[in-house]
Amino acid sequence: MNVASLSSLQPKNNQSDNHEQDLPDKVFLRNFVPMKLFHIIFICLGNICRSPAAQAVMQKIVDKRQLSDRFLIDSAGISAYHQGELPDRRMRVHARQRGYELTHHSRPVTFSDLDQADLIVAMDQANVDALHNLAATPEQDRKITPIGQFIRLLRRHYDFVPDPYYEGSEGFELVLDLLEDACENLLEYILKNQSTS
Ligand code: 4NP
Repeated sequence: MNVASLSSLQPKNNQSDNHEQDLPDKVFLRNFVPMKLFHIIFICLGNICRSPAAQAVMQKIVDKRQLSDRFLIDSAGISAYHQGELPDRRMRVHARQRGYELTHHSRPVTFSDLDQADLIVAMDQANVDALHNLAATPEQDRKITPIGQFIRLLRRHYDFVPDPYYEGSEGFELVLDLLEDACENLLEYILKNQSTS
């Protein structure tokens, strides 16, 4: 594009594109409530098995309840070993059998995740400890929570989501069983305790 055609895109005769002055003073916008997205990041070690599965399970629950416009759901890993990779093929196969498509690409958790997220949900105690080591402020620290707190159905046996990486099929099925239960309970908890301010 040459200079002449660029100048043809400029407002003519000092006309401004700012229409604010044309807006009415007071309109009662009864139904408009500015809503900040509630930002959840699920964390595991490699971000190729448990946390991308948790992300997909939570997203589906939120979508089913028509709450997608209120949540931002993501996942990350403590390590960068698998950075850029799709979830482990075994995890994708087991998830797909239950209707979840895992399309997240592995990435390591960042300092800005701890700042930006509202809630950081860790799959096991080693992940919790690593996140606390990374956190630099009490506010970042407070966002870190173990997913085990939301496990109900298998509570007597599991207070964390075990790493399936060196397990067989049952390990991946167990991850999904635990996540489907825990994510339902997590959403209930958030909705019950959300701020009304
Ligand atoms: P995740 O599982 O933490 O649930 O993604 C693992 C994936 C990879 C490895 C360990 C755990 N790894 O050692 O490469």
